[in-house]
Amino acid sequence: MAQEDIFKKIVSHCKEYGFVFPSSDIYDGLGAVYDYGQNGVELKNNIKQYWWQSMVLLHENIVGIDSAIFMHPTIWKASGHVDAFNDPLIDNRDSKKRYRADVLIEDRIAAYEEKIEKEVAKARKRFGESFDEAQYRATSPRVLETQQKRDALHARYAEAMNAMNLEELGNIIRDEEIVCPISGTRNWTEVRQFNLMFKTEVGSTAEGASTIYLRPETAQGIFVNYLNVQKTGRMKVPFGIAQIGKAFRNEIVARQFIFRMREFEQMEMQFFVKPGTELEWFDRWKQTRLAWHQALGFGEENYRFHDHEKLAHYANAAADIEFRMPFGFKEVEGIHSRTNFDLSQHAKFSGRKIEYFDPETNESYTPYVIETSIGVDRMFLSVMCHSYEEERLENGETRTVLKLPAALAPTKLAVMPLVRKEGLPEKAREIVNDLKFHFNCKYDEKDSIGKRYRRQDAVGTPYCITVDHETMKDDCVTLRDRDTMQQQRVRISDLRALIEEKVSITSLLKKIN
Ligand code: GAP
Repeated sequence: MAQEDIFKKIVSHCKEYGFVFPSSDIYDGLGAVYDYGQNGVELKNNIKQYWWQSMVLLHENIVGIDSAIFMHPTIWKASGHVDAFNDPLIDNRDSKKRYRADVLIEDRIAAYEEKIEKEVAKARKRFGESFDEAQYRATSPRVLETQQKRDALHARYAEAMNAMNLEELGNIIRDEEIVCPISGTRNWTEVRQFNLMFKTEVGSTAEGASTIYLRPETAQGIFVNYLNVQKTGRMKVPFGIAQIGKAFRNEIVARQFIFRMREFEQMEMQFFVKPGTELEWFDRWKQTRLAWHQALGFGEENYRFHDHEKLAHYANAAADIEFRMPFGFKEVEGIHSRTNFDLSQHAKFSGRKIEYFDPETNESYTPYVIETSIGVDRMFLSVMCHSYEEERLENGETRTVLKLPAALAPTKLAVMPLVRKEGLPEKAREIVNDLKFHFNCKYDEKDSIGKRYRRQDAVGTPYCITVDHETMKDDCVTLRDRDTMQQQRVRISDLRALIEEKVSITSLLKKIN
């Protein structure tokens, strides 16, 4: 099945099984805004818990905060967001649709790459066993011609973006003859800058109101609390502050479901270090964060680092962790060495002294910062994409199963009486009432056992147990494993020990500690 079709299936599966709904669904939705349903919220909470615990439980020197979404407007002046948090946009005069100029060009680069891959795939099929891919790539005139076009475009684009040369971005779009996907025309406006922050007002009267912004990242809430936390927590450098919270960006191109949203959630950690040690910490955090992702068991080959060539003016190193989504390798997390830019800017704009006094050297300095920043929703999407499977069974049937890591699954155990009589439901409820204090259990008595198993497979429940007539005699149940579909008889009294270890977040944390 084409990757595009798989992605469509994942999106509809998310809706059908209560993971993600379009926001304001009965009003036909609101662009790039989504709601999490009864299963989605559990999965999302588990992802957040896994991240939070990996930061604040596993590191003595990392503490958490929860800062407000509304902040003093000067914060966004100091951070550079008012002046520079922009995307270059372009409108098509015929369709009246608005696009990000950089995305239109990146799509064209991707189209060249796709053309090359198609040529190679065709040749592989044509030559069979004897195919020498490296040689073909190096010598095929068609591949070389497309590669040359791709490289030239990439170089021109990188230069225009580095200089934020809007006119040149417009020229590239015209020279490449890029058309609007809706109208099919090249009737473009000039490229303009568009600030991504949402504005609102505080104050009860129009005259007394002042403009504030919905935060576009949670990080600034950490920077402006640096002094509070360092002093009240008697924190010694190096130390970190972690936060999970909503962020808002008026994205021009909002697409690929929950990959790019206007309201989303971030999990960010700012790690304050002594100047001069930041690049060493940057490397350590890159490895620590990659290990966190890989502990989920999605396969090392599905992750890669993308080291940034173009750095923001305040950064001295930056890398993304990319995950293989059905629509290609995409950024899920950013790790940035932000120097002392943010703290120095807030010191300048607030007039406060924001420094660290090192008792060992008797020196004061403004700490440097390594930031790890991951989108909860993007992480959620990567988990769903990797877990969704349509399996062909031996009997010819297809089963749709979400092979979620057990620690992230919304429900850990479904308890099912074989029939709705003869005391079996009561026995099943007794088991739920006992185990519900330890992990998330669901009672399910409707439909045949086969149908009930399928329902639980579709929401990723790792274990099901069936209470049957034998149970009433021997206090044993049938335990079914979601992935292998194998069943075993186990004692009710052993269930907790058997399941708890496998479904707890601790099992993941132990892999990375
Ligand atoms: N404080 C740094 C910062 O915000 P970023 O690269 O702009 O850096 C960090 O964002 C992460 O937040 C991204 O790697 C991505 O996972 C997530 N993210 C950013 N914009 C998003 C959006 N519009 N929708 C969903 N997730 C987003």
